[in-house]
Amino acid sequence: MTVCERAARVFAEVFGIDPDGVWCAPGRVNLIGEHVDYAGGLCLPMALPHVTAVAVRTRSDGRLRLHSDGFDPVDADLFGDRVDGWGGYVAGVAWALDVPGFTGADIAVVSDVPVGAGLSSSAALEAATALAFASLYMLPSDEAGRDALARACVRAENEYVGAPTGGMDQQIALRARAGHAMLLDCADGRAEHIPFDAQTHGVTVLVIDTGTGHRLVDGRYGDRRAEVDAAARRAGPLRDLSSPPALDDTVLRRRARHVVTEIARVRDAVAVLRAGAVRDLGPILDASHRSLRDDFEVSCPELDVAADAARAAGAFGARMVGGGFGGSVLALCDTGDVPRIEEAARTAAAGRGFPRPSFLEAVPSSGARRC
Ligand code: GLA
Repeated sequence: MTVCERAARVFAEVFGIDPDGVWCAPGRVNLIGEHVDYAGGLCLPMALPHVTAVAVRTRSDGRLRLHSDGFDPVDADLFGDRVDGWGGYVAGVAWALDVPGFTGADIAVVSDVPVGAGLSSSAALEAATALAFASLYMLPSDEAGRDALARACVRAENEYVGAPTGGMDQQIALRARAGHAMLLDCADGRAEHIPFDAQTHGVTVLVIDTGTGHRLVDGRYGDRRAEVDAAARRAGPLRDLSSPPALDDTVLRRRARHVVTEIARVRDAVAVLRAGAVRDLGPILDASHRSLRDDFEVSCPELDVAADAARAAGAFGARMVGGGFGGSVLALCDTGDVPRIEEAARTAAAGRGFPRPSFLEAVPSSGARRC
């Protein structure tokens, strides 16, 4: 049974009636362009085949009732209560969209996007919810409409949930195309879909989930964002610089160097993909990891060990993905080498007493859709 089918079934079991419809949105992995979205930079994410599905039925009494197996149920007054915890991602989208005529909903959520793995499970929930409301209340869901929905999801996350994230995750969850990575210009929201068919080259994008928690609301992500803003106040928009600025403050200098060099790496990666030289992404990924580890300081031993193990076992390149401080590593490798790399990552983690990693293969997939 698919995730969407399960959502419809859970809805019927919990609420005793069929939903009006089921919508889903994917998790994501970012090929390159990390910690540059909130600096108006370029990034190159792709959607995962893993999705979060929401089965939705509207209500007319102002209540929002949410169910997700393994999480506390929510039963809130839409116009009175503030919804904390996981339900905030749904209530926040309703708040940000502020749809005329919306008077409540019952929603069942089912997902196979790993939670806390840096694969944007929260953006998948926001995006699925936003598209559901767009369909039910006739908001535009063409390309421009999806950009607007993504922006509403970002407001939900920033202003309702209180996580100061950029916009990459919500944009890819709503706008991804199967078989493509999406070159997103975070300065203006423009997206270009770049064919990315690693599989036909015998190459796999392997995601190594280190099993170490990753949270965006614990302050460290926000610290980095504030440092980038401070660097930009001194040096001007980092996006516009062709080389790293010579700032007096050594910390800000390193943060800015990451942003400027990472944006350049995105351009290099796009050139490599356009030339069909997928394996040449490897050194670009490695350089990104070094920059995130040394200049931006958002890696951690679990991520470094997984990336090193993957490289030593034959990956062309490997880097941490997402916000950092835990979460996942992306390794680009020959498909035949996947078992060896998985074994190497497991062995390396066990040797350091780290949690046992888990794995998934990232095949570029579609954005949010009605199931
Ligand atoms: C998290 C945020 C994104 C982005 C990445 C780092 O996933 O949600 O907006 O900043 O971290 O690239």
